[in-house]
Amino acid sequence: QTIYLKDYTPFGFIVDGVELTFRLHPTKTRVFSKIAFRPNPAAIDNRFFLHGEQLKLINAKIDGAEITPRAVDGGIEVDVPDAPFTWEAEVEINPEANTALEGLYMSNGMYCTQCEAEGFRKITFYPDRPDVMATFTVRIEGNVENTPELLSNGNGDEYGTDQTVTPNSNYAVWIDPWPKPAYLFALVAGDLIAHEDTFKTMSGKDVRLSIFVRPGDEHKCAFGMEALKKSMKWDEDVYGREYDLDEFNIVAVDDFNMGAMENKGLNIFNSSCVLASPETATDGNFERIEAIIAHEYFHNWTGNRITCRDWFQLCLKEGLTVYRDAQFTADMRSEPVKRIDDVLALRGRQFPEDQGPLSHPVRPESFQEINNFYTATVYEKGAEVIGMLKTLVGDDAYAKALDLYFDRHDSQACTIEDWIKVFEDSTSRDLTQFKLWYSQSGTPEVTVREEFEGDIFTLHLSQSSAPTPGQDTKAPQVIPVAVGLLNDNGDEVLPTQVLELTETEKSFTFKGHATRPIPSVLRGFSAPVTLTQDIDNARRAFLLAHDTDPFNRWEAGRNLARDSLIGAIVDGTAHNEDYLSGLKALLRDDRLDPAYRALMLGQPSQSELAGILHKQGQIPDPAAIHAATESLRDAKAKAFADLLPDIYTANQVTGPFSPDAEPAGKRSLANAALSLLTRLDGGEAAEKQYKSADNMTLQLAAFGALLDAGKGDNAIAAFYDQWNDDRLVIDKWFSMQVMFAKPEDLAATVANLTQHADFDWKNPNRFRAVMGVMAAHHAGFHHTSGTSYQVLADWLLKLDPVNPQTTARMCSAFQTWKRYDDDRQALLKAQLERIAGQNGLSRDTTEMVTRILEA
Ligand code: ARG
Ligand code: ZN
Repeated sequence: QTIYLKDYTPFGFIVDGVELTFRLHPTKTRVFSKIAFRPNPAAIDNRFFLHGEQLKLINAKIDGAEITPRAVDGGIEVDVPDAPFTWEAEVEINPEANTALEGLYMSNGMYCTQCEAEGFRKITFYPDRPDVMATFTVRIEGNVENTPELLSNGNGDEYGTDQTVTPNSNYAVWIDPWPKPAYLFALVAGDLIAHEDTFKTMSGKDVRLSIFVRPGDEHKCAFGMEALKKSMKWDEDVYGREYDLDEFNIVAVDDFNMGAMENKGLNIFNSSCVLASPETATDGNFERIEAIIAHEYFHNWTGNRITCRDWFQLCLKEGLTVYRDAQFTADMRSEPVKRIDDVLALRGRQFPEDQGPLSHPVRPESFQEINNFYTATVYEKGAEVIGMLKTLVGDDAYAKALDLYFDRHDSQACTIEDWIKVFEDSTSRDLTQFKLWYSQSGTPEVTVREEFEGDIFTLHLSQSSAPTPGQDTKAPQVIPVAVGLLNDNGDEVLPTQVLELTETEKSFTFKGHATRPIPSVLRGFSAPVTLTQDIDNARRAFLLAHDTDPFNRWEAGRNLARDSLIGAIVDGTAHNEDYLSGLKALLRDDRLDPAYRALMLGQPSQSELAGILHKQGQIPDPAAIHAATESLRDAKAKAFADLLPDIYTANQVTGPFSPDAEPAGKRSLANAALSLLTRLDGGEAAEKQYKSADNMTLQLAAFGALLDAGKGDNAIAAFYDQWNDDRLVIDKWFSMQVMFAKPEDLAATVANLTQHADFDWKNPNRFRAVMGVMAAHHAGFHHTSGTSYQVLADWLLKLDPVNPQTTARMCSAFQTWKRYDDDRQALLKAQLERIAGQNGLSRDTTEMVTRILEA
């Protein structure tokens, strides 16, 4: 059943208040609800329908009189008075049987909820839609031994142990004064330890902060707490947003489908996205944790105080909040490094989505299962759209528009139209064309042609966009193209300007140039497009050496690497010497941030290369792509042989571990050097680093280098012995072995690991650590034997009845199937059809495989 944006109608009733009581029990939890409803004057349809799934109804009452609801698809219907009334229900649910991790479930003895998007209907009967906002009072009754900690949204109002009725019982009452949709409801109960702190808000209110973890994880909370306080301060300083409750709680849970969830006042995190210690977490983990804490915290305003009218508007909160967390990370760390990381992620995850069968607009127009639309397009492209809007209107106008947004829409459930209107009203700009970014799917391609005549330099820009599912033709979009001009010496003769490409073709002239300037186009990656520019390697090498825009300087090197790889893949051309010498000069340049230099050493991934070849009309050969990738790394190792030991030594960090950007950047450069060095010294330096490492960043890099060199056997055993009591580190142990398997060994390696006693496949982190990494191993996943395809399909079929959401998400591993040769396509198609044909396949997975097969 497909749901359409155009079919939206408001709910027929308004909720004036919700009272819930939970009598917790692992298999028989009772949920009592008492909800005040009144007719909605704006209603079109006054049918009283409440969502409800997997609920055992014990009894229901309207205004105190028992009634029997009619069971209808997805919930119940009841005849109600045409006046305010009270709905009461008692239902029973089974948290222990809930392996889908949606609704109320158990994770290692702890009760936990996940309600976004539509999980609340598995807790009690309710209008489970984001435009129904209400205040909640929640009473939780537990057992003081198993659940000493009882948490919900808002402010803790009461806590007690009342032994008169049941021995060992305890209870807590939580009041959330802010109206919220049901998807922001949360409940956690368990034996938890709090890491506490406080924050004084800008108006002087003290907020109690806690991170709740299971005993044994207490030492992994300090970093997350610092990140939270920095986020709270930053949102005050930059957006003027103050926190609005007396307490803010975070809980870490091991079994979680996503990264984290912004429930009002009670954020719930996948433990991998909050717990960190220097010994167990890498610099990359620390940075990610800081960003996710910020993201969830920022949702308090962009998501919670102002929420979405319906799930088609998901990007309203997610695009904006991703954009805000990126700004935060850029401020806390390095702006260019963050921008490059984000573009890498966009090209790695969003471009394949946008250019394949799953392509959908930032605001989709239909879906079967909304959980399938928590995508890179909604999140990351959604954030790019906000960035473009800011570029177009300017920083001051953006700040003014955001003030108006918070002012005008506080406590409302809004649409993209509301968002756009705020910008139109505060800037008097017509944003009709800009709105196409929300409705047109696909990645636009911008082509640049240069012309120089007299003293006039002209850039001829054009745009086109290939057809995508459901969208055969596209209208031109407004594309902000940031451009700067350089002279032959590399001096900037025209600082960055934003050209607005609004038509299919448009030319921009720059007067008064005695000599031909060198343009630097799409600076800072000012729009999520692909750029086609007819320039030679010499020009790219010049930009690599001189571009004053750090993003484009990196991009010049990236394009050189890309073309060198494509040449090697297509006709065995030797790697580009200009690239290697240009890169070498840059690596030597100590004025450049080590983190930036480490990024410079990178090169396009194998799947990115496959995508580029496909776009050029060629059939990618995974083995040839793998070989070229390896040969470029070898060429770098050889070309930089004299330099690598110096870089390695110069970037060792001494003193106590700090996850800050500066030491982390040094470690990333030293580790990049180590991985190349290992190609020369057979693993000697890596062996040494593995033995002496006192933090996970160094240990894991050395582990990877050894595995890559085929010398990892001892480390595999030692690593397991050292870390087998730490779930998050054992996830890494699984991942690393999969990641560094030889392509021809991948399927067997995975099959082997799935036999391991610690392969707890019902845990999403563990499942992804093996299956997700296998799917990302381009040469191994696409090995001609097709066994990897089969292994993945086997496991997806096994997981689907247990956890549809994680299964469906992982089906995207198959989204690029039409890129490949006929033999591989046949193998891939056979697996997709096998999945699609499974009896009782979930709605989630059905939607994914059908879309992938059909387009
Ligand atoms: N709103 C959460 C976040 O971005 C993600 C929750 C996703 N949940 C889901 N079931 N798809 O921070
Ligand atoms: Zn979010």
